[in-house]
Amino acid sequence: MAGRRVLVVGSGGREHALVARLAADPGVDTVLAAPGNPGMAAHGRCHDVAVDDHAALVRLARDEAVDLVVVGPEGPLVAGLVDVLAEAGIAAFGPAAAAARLEGSKAFAKSVMDAAGVPTAAWVAAATREEALAALDRFARPGVPWVVKADGLAAGKGVVVTADRTEAEAAIDAALGGRFGDAGTTLVIEEFLAGPERSLFAVCDGDDAVLLAPAQDHKRALDGDAGPNTGGMGAFSPVAGFALGDAHVDVLRDTVVRPVLRELARRGSPFRGLLFVGLVDTVDGPKVLEYNVRFGDPETQVVLPRLTSGLVDLLWAAATGSAATGDGVASVPVTFADDAAVTVVMASAGYPASSSHGDVIDGVGTADACTGVHVLHAGTARDADGRLVTAGGRVLAVTALGRDVDEARARAYGGVARIRFAGAQHRTDIGRTGHGGT
Ligand code: AMP
Ligand code: GLY
Repeated sequence: MAGRRVLVVGSGGREHALVARLAADPGVDTVLAAPGNPGMAAHGRCHDVAVDDHAALVRLARDEAVDLVVVGPEGPLVAGLVDVLAEAGIAAFGPAAAAARLEGSKAFAKSVMDAAGVPTAAWVAAATREEALAALDRFARPGVPWVVKADGLAAGKGVVVTADRTEAEAAIDAALGGRFGDAGTTLVIEEFLAGPERSLFAVCDGDDAVLLAPAQDHKRALDGDAGPNTGGMGAFSPVAGFALGDAHVDVLRDTVVRPVLRELARRGSPFRGLLFVGLVDTVDGPKVLEYNVRFGDPETQVVLPRLTSGLVDLLWAAATGSAATGDGVASVPVTFADDAAVTVVMASAGYPASSSHGDVIDGVGTADACTGVHVLHAGTARDADGRLVTAGGRVLAVTALGRDVDEARARAYGGVARIRFAGAQHRTDIGRTGHGGT
């Protein structure tokens, strides 16, 4: 089919990267976004429909004769948006709710991993304070932190990694005390995995998967991996020692992706969409930290700009059950440039504890005009006077391509230097050689 009409659901940097890439795709006629943001508006029309208003999204897709809906965030996936679209006969890239539980419940994900024989951290589920404290005892090791997780979705705030027993107990009490609502009535307490984190994207069609280029995120707020966890302060791709086409990465498809697809299919909930594998490269080999059921943010901002083949045909093939022809071979061409990409997140004052809205942003156009730079919008809006203002914690993802990570990083930071808003904060060490074990 030539000239598809695609609707991207979401409003962040990941969705801007998807919209920008799809708008440049020869197989795409029109890109729409809901609700979108001012950055996406440069590539296609944005419709003011919230991601949790499933009925309105179905109406929009129908009214606009959309061929394919691409769902960005996990919330609507876990809440069943793709099921509702399927009932309405609308093709969507993203898993149905039953498969999206892989991200919606950490205990479910762990049980699937165990059944599938996937290497992951040892874990226990705890529903009472006694069980949780016994789990802390079980995983107590000198100098090694505890990992306490709320079972359900908690907007990235449900995980505490701490070497301080008092803090670990406080996290247990807060979650069981209702801090995350139903998401925290069960806890997962698990073994700490030491090593650099990698992000692997697998485009899945229910049976098989096509891997995209790996990326690395920087989760902590401050330079040198200090400070609190965030949604991600920047990312880079490729990752040294972790290249697509390496025997190593091909093996990962067979050890951490396909067994999970098989297990979910066996349970009657095949996974179609983007399976994001968060890995830790431990001394005992790669182990799965978590699965997400959607593209990573900000990893997408560095993976998609490197994709030289079409995107919509691949997403369409996955949505309709034919992305791979067996043995992970893509049914449509999937190629990546040797070029590297780096994205640096500029966050608003107070992030990650809070965020500042309405601060006027200057310099985006100047930054965008720099060689290799594309400023992706994450949390922006227009004020009553049409000025670009902050509208979230992560505001912009200043992204650049270069011959290697060093050049891409220098270009991205050149873009960052041209952008100003009150309280702006960013890390200065995104993609730095040697950082995060690369
Ligand atoms: P999650 O919300 O599951 O992505 O976890 C947030 C972050 O906490 C991860 O990106 C890791 O940096 C850290 N983390 C989670 N689980 C573990 C673990 N078992 N060992 C070490 N770090 C972890
Ligand atoms: N960057 C991590 C995530 O998207 O969950």
